[in-house]
Amino acid sequence: MTKLTVLEVPHPILSQKAEPVAVIDASIQKILTDMLETMYLSNGVGLAGNQVGLLKRLVVIDVAGEGEKPDPIKMVNPVIVERSEKTVCHNEGCLSVPRQYADVERNETVTVRYFDENGVECERFADGLLAICIQHELDHLDGILFIDHLSQLKRSLLLKKLEKRRKKEAKEKGTE
Ligand code: NI
Repeated sequence: MTKLTVLEVPHPILSQKAEPVAVIDASIQKILTDMLETMYLSNGVGLAGNQVGLLKRLVVIDVAGEGEKPDPIKMVNPVIVERSEKTVCHNEGCLSVPRQYADVERNETVTVRYFDENGVECERFADGLLAICIQHELDHLDGILFIDHLSQLKRSLLLKKLEKRRKKEAKEKGTE
């Protein structure tokens, strides 16, 4: 397994639309395995192709809590086919926007259709954290980050905070 590099804002690939996968072969299966490993090593609950520099419609998710049995989901070409009218607000973060969090409004439940790593078409109803995570990750495939759901003001404040933190970390590294 290979740990992939997770891209961070403002990398342009994060704002681009990913292309559908035409054939699910061994190379796609390996990418999905590497993405899942990378996500676990980064303590994330989801990761999309764009985030590892691949403009392919690939998503991995595992929202199992600490101490719970892992529940990895690998999705190829996922599409949300149904959304609840009811929405919920959840404090979201993202490996591409490190250590920054903000409330985002999402549909409370979704039904997602996708192909698994063996090319089998699946449909899954999701609620709770999984529903939020699916919407967050599928947004990535369309070049949308969770901060793009915030007001201009909130978004720029958050990016400023991130920049400040990066500078501080670089300085600390330099004095080691
Ligand atoms: Ni994210």
